[in-house]
Amino acid sequence: MEHVTEYLDDLFAFIQHSPTAYHATAGVLDHLTQQGFKRLDEAVSWSNLPPGSYSVVRNGASLIAFTLSQDPQAGMPMRMAGAHTDSPSLKIKPNPVQVRHGCVQLGVEMYGGLLLAPWFDRNLSIAGRVTWSCGTGSMRCSLIDFTRAAAIIPSLAIHLDREANEKRQIDRQTDLVPIIMLTDTADPPDFNELVRKELVRLHPEAAMATILAFDLFLYDLQPPCRAGLNGEFITGPRLDNLLSCHALARAMTAAPDNCNRLIVFNDHEEIGSLSRSGAQGPFLKSVLQRLYPDPDLLQRVVARSLFISVDNAHAVHPNFATRHDPNHLVMLNQGPVIKVNAAQRYATDAITAGLFRQLCTKADIPYQEFVMRNDLACGSTIGPLTAAEIGIPTVDVGVPQLAMHSIRETIGHLDGWHLLQAMTAFFAAEDTQIHCPDPGF
Ligand code: CO
Repeated sequence: MEHVTEYLDDLFAFIQHSPTAYHATAGVLDHLTQQGFKRLDEAVSWSNLPPGSYSVVRNGASLIAFTLSQDPQAGMPMRMAGAHTDSPSLKIKPNPVQVRHGCVQLGVEMYGGLLLAPWFDRNLSIAGRVTWSCGTGSMRCSLIDFTRAAAIIPSLAIHLDREANEKRQIDRQTDLVPIIMLTDTADPPDFNELVRKELVRLHPEAAMATILAFDLFLYDLQPPCRAGLNGEFITGPRLDNLLSCHALARAMTAAPDNCNRLIVFNDHEEIGSLSRSGAQGPFLKSVLQRLYPDPDLLQRVVARSLFISVDNAHAVHPNFATRHDPNHLVMLNQGPVIKVNAAQRYATDAITAGLFRQLCTKADIPYQEFVMRNDLACGSTIGPLTAAEIGIPTVDVGVPQLAMHSIRETIGHLDGWHLLQAMTAFFAAEDTQIHCPDPGF
């Protein structure tokens, strides 16, 4: 139990320091660098990398890290796993400020498939990245985080909408406009100036900066915590999918140095993955092509490797159990979930599910299986996209959770720990445990 507590403290700190995908990527990179991973630049040659551990970041919110225990040219299988860094959120528009009835407000866009109602009446802060000019002609990019209750979206009182509990709908353009301050003038404040002040607070060297552009998001300030009478739950923001990023990065650095392995963390999963750094883009393929310049060798390695796509799964909600397939009721604290979908919204098949089950059984880790009801649309993950881009055998797994895409999600306190154990076992496995040479005929 001591190990679980330490693990949870580490997970909570990671989530709290990762209000956006940019911060999450920076946090993972910090961990990897402390563990001896050397950072590579996509813009310079990587030819003849010696055995060792490396990381590469694309566009600030996607990251690939790999350990070459053996020369890749020897063609050993590669253990690969991936997760996504982004979470549904509200993104601040380029010209966000509006003044209405003495309130200064910020226009926001919806990022991803968020549940809207939980965003009301929260202490919201602002974080993301800013590009700025220091006057010498060069541009810089910095992460910022207001780290305080800077914004709020108050509910409309029930007295002004007596049917609020029966009929209230949320208009995405007009109802979710956060308030950041009061003013007694009609002149809107300069938002770039507010951003510049925050930038200087964290980066004093930016005192003379001109803000050029920003990718800024709202987030809930309330940190993750244990919940339930016996502490059997964890509630927190962005558990989908920062819990998986955290587990993969820790497993990657905890595994013995006996195999070639790789983790990929993609941005933009929540908006469809089609971008230069998303799973439907060329990031992973380009890294693999640089490690294996010979296309024949790359195909031989991919054919004998395994990709574990890790993203949270839907646990059965006791108030809404009819929304689940009755034979696939996934429970909190009963281990990682293997996700199956006949239409390949999850990439799992009998071969890859079998390999994952074997890994769990050998490491004494419980597991469960999920399939969506036939009358509900199935979500997806980076798994099918990665499998389709690379051609790698893939299994979709993840910890069970409630309230997916809420501003505050709920999981069991043991499932992340089980996932970490499963991924550590994967990175330490024998080659024969990640490949099935038998086609069955
Ligand atoms: Co997810």
